[in-house]
Amino acid sequence: METVVSGIRSTGNLHLGNYYGAIQNFVKMQHEYNCYFFIADLHSLTTHPTPANLHGAVKQVLVEYLAAGIDPEKATIYVQSDVPEVSELYLYLNMNAYTGELERSTSFKDKVRANPDNVNAGLLTYPVLMAADILIHKATKVPVGKDQEQHLEMSRTFGNRFNRLYNNEYFPEPYAFSMGESLVKIPGLDGKGKMGKSESEGNAIFLSDTPEAIRKKVMRAVTDAGPTADNQPKPQEIQNLFDLLKVVSTPDTLEHFDNLYNTCAIRYGDLKKQLAEDMIIATAPIREKINDIASDAPYLRQVAIYGAAKARESASKTIREVREIIGFRKF
Ligand code: TYM
Repeated sequence: METVVSGIRSTGNLHLGNYYGAIQNFVKMQHEYNCYFFIADLHSLTTHPTPANLHGAVKQVLVEYLAAGIDPEKATIYVQSDVPEVSELYLYLNMNAYTGELERSTSFKDKVRANPDNVNAGLLTYPVLMAADILIHKATKVPVGKDQEQHLEMSRTFGNRFNRLYNNEYFPEPYAFSMGESLVKIPGLDGKGKMGKSESEGNAIFLSDTPEAIRKKVMRAVTDAGPTADNQPKPQEIQNLFDLLKVVSTPDTLEHFDNLYNTCAIRYGDLKKQLAEDMIIATAPIREKINDIASDAPYLRQVAIYGAAKARESASKTIREVREIIGFRKF
């Protein structure tokens, strides 16, 4: 059975982008593959959370994984920092990751631009840690959103380089994967790029948002003055709303609003109302479980301990073999 690995950073509540880009695939794949889904708390250290915030954010992701339907009996769910073998592999892979290639990564350049005062080495080597997450279980499929494609390419580079250096075929090649036909990019509500935790206020719809909060955010989404001729191409902010409709609404609803747009009869207020209601319906099964799961501390502890033990079993086997390949021998 093929092995699957993916993770989400513990940097805040999960949003529709995380859901449609990643979690929805996690839930489907757990029935067919040997799955490891983790909470990337080491990665979240690049932004220096306080201890209390870090713990709260890790818990939130764990709760939302479970509320979304990841079954700890089917998939291995664990916290990244509970598996120290990941950090050890990260150290080894860092020896063959070159600063030039790391500096050229798009996500690194974006982060430097967004936050020039915090260009730490952890940020630079973020893709190496990601490769360690994946290679530690020798995974081949990695369910992620479109924004992670370049990171996956780098994971293949680091794994292949290790193989070449030690002249063996130890690590298989991991690829970004989606159960749909292509990798997903969910837009935000600010009329610009993707939905994200750190974009502007109101840009993201969180799985834990109340129906009221969802309605408010959607009604405030950026639109234009409306089409002035039939069959006009949609500007980005309008296309974004249609892309969101496509994921949460029925094909009939999408076609209905598309026809209205193409005949200049669209009223954005109606489209937004429909979009908000369909988002509320799409997130309801998750939202309704979040509070109950969050208040069950013994269950959360049990899931985390059980998952860490299973993940360490696989990770420690890899580390034993990697140490042997590198030439660390016992006296
Ligand atoms: P993070 O927390 O930024 O994102 C987690 C997952 O959500 C997806 N995602 C989106 N997909 C579609 N549209 C969006 N607007 C959107 N926003 C986020 C991301 O593609 C990702 O799948 N570096 C990873 C975390 C990680 C990881 C790994 C993933 C660390 N190690 C190993 C896979 C394998 C990240 O971006 O997290």
